[in-house]
Amino acid sequence: MTRIEWNDFLSVGHAKIDEDHKHLLEILNRLADSEERRKRDVVAKAVNDMAAYASEHFAREEELMKAINYPLLAEHTERHKELTAKVAAWQRKLTGRWHPWHGGTFFAVLAHWLVSHILDDDRLVADFRRTGRVGHRFRKQAAGKEPFPALRPAPGKGLDPTRGPRPRRVAA
Ligand SMILES: [Fe+2]
Repeated sequence: MTRIEWNDFLSVGHAKIDEDHKHLLEILNRLADSEERRKRDVVAKAVNDMAAYASEHFAREEELMKAINYPLLAEHTERHKELTAKVAAWQRKLTGRWHPWHGGTFFAVLAHWLVSHILDDDRLVADFRRTGRVGHRFRKQAAGKEPFPALRPAPGKGLDPTRGPRPRRVAA
């Protein structure tokens, strides 16, 4: 698997948060090498380091969101809890039977989560910090006309949480 290199596109314009994201990517990148990620102790260390550093980093981000009165703090914090639970599940998994593909799966799942979270969720915080607005997607909510939606749709509720339920088809 390919290392995930830092790119300015991932920057949220906050030096410490960017530095944290680089550090989290580096922890994952230890598993990019196919030989390394087959070693149980290397994978276990990466999972434990991810658990420790992600919790420090999430606390920092949540403090920042509180300090700027970020309106989607609760939803964003939920995303952090999801990742924390995922990593804790991996910690438990690694105390059980070892499979040589565990490292590759952890790398793929976590890398996908982290990059999506930076681009989808952390960038909304960065935009709000810079402009005092949450972007066109949430214009009505920012104006107090509608409640803020969950950042992800509830299962079975369609792909766009800013739109209501799809109209039912009526048989002709
Ligand atoms: Fe975040």
